[in-house]
Amino acid sequence: MAGFFENISRFEIGDWWKEEELPLDAKKFGEYDKIALEIGFGFGEFLVSTAEKENDTLFFGVEKYGEGLKKIVNILKQKDVRNVVPLCGDAYVILQVLFSDNSLDKIFVNFPDPWPKKRHQKRRVLTEEFFRLSARKLKEKGRIFFATDDENLAKFAMSEIEKVPQLENLCHPQPYLSHSPYLSKTRYEKKWMAEKKNLYYFIYGRRNASHQI
Ligand SMILES: C[S@@+](CC[C@H](N)C(=O)[O-])C[C@H]1O[C@@H](n2cnc3c(N)ncnc32)[C@H](O)[C@@H]1O
Repeated sequence: MAGFFENISRFEIGDWWKEEELPLDAKKFGEYDKIALEIGFGFGEFLVSTAEKENDTLFFGVEKYGEGLKKIVNILKQKDVRNVVPLCGDAYVILQVLFSDNSLDKIFVNFPDPWPKKRHQKRRVLTEEFFRLSARKLKEKGRIFFATDDENLAKFAMSEIEKVPQLENLCHPQPYLSHSPYLSKTRYEKKWMAEKKNLYYFIYGRRNASHQI
């Protein structure tokens, strides 16, 4: 995989990862101190901007829809950002098959679709199974950050994550933060802020993790 970033157009094939040996060996992408994953990066503004600020970290990003992937590949080419690896697929599958256990420093899930109807609940990303899987994939001091504008989803996610004893709330004694802990804003975050919506930011860590971003 040497020269992967020289051939960045390859990322336009969202499922390029199917041709790789899995789980991925992150070292093939270069020497980085940390590895992070953003789930549902949309058009990628947060992912690229965060990666530019944290150049000691290799950022993977997964998005279900191809439009977002096309957009981020163009941004990466234009800006020559080399520590972002975008891919297309379903978050749960990607987390399951691409990453070794105990390999991720951070996982971000920003403003996922709330799927408010009861019959659509199983489409939600922030479920007990997802949190269990995330706990397994995080390093010992790794952290998962998630945010929503939807009060019902916030309550649902809290009740799901409480079933996973490997993860602890790093905002304790508060259940969540009302202000962003991030260095960059996401597209939806800006939209909800302009509408003056209440926002809910959660930070959980494998036991003994620090809450600093
Ligand atoms: C409301 S948008 C938020 C986009 C971005 N994170 C932001 O805050 O601006 C939710 C995004 O998550 C993606 N998504 C939803 N479910 C997903 C899944 N299971 N796997 C990967 N991406 C998913 C959607 O395609 C969509 O782009």
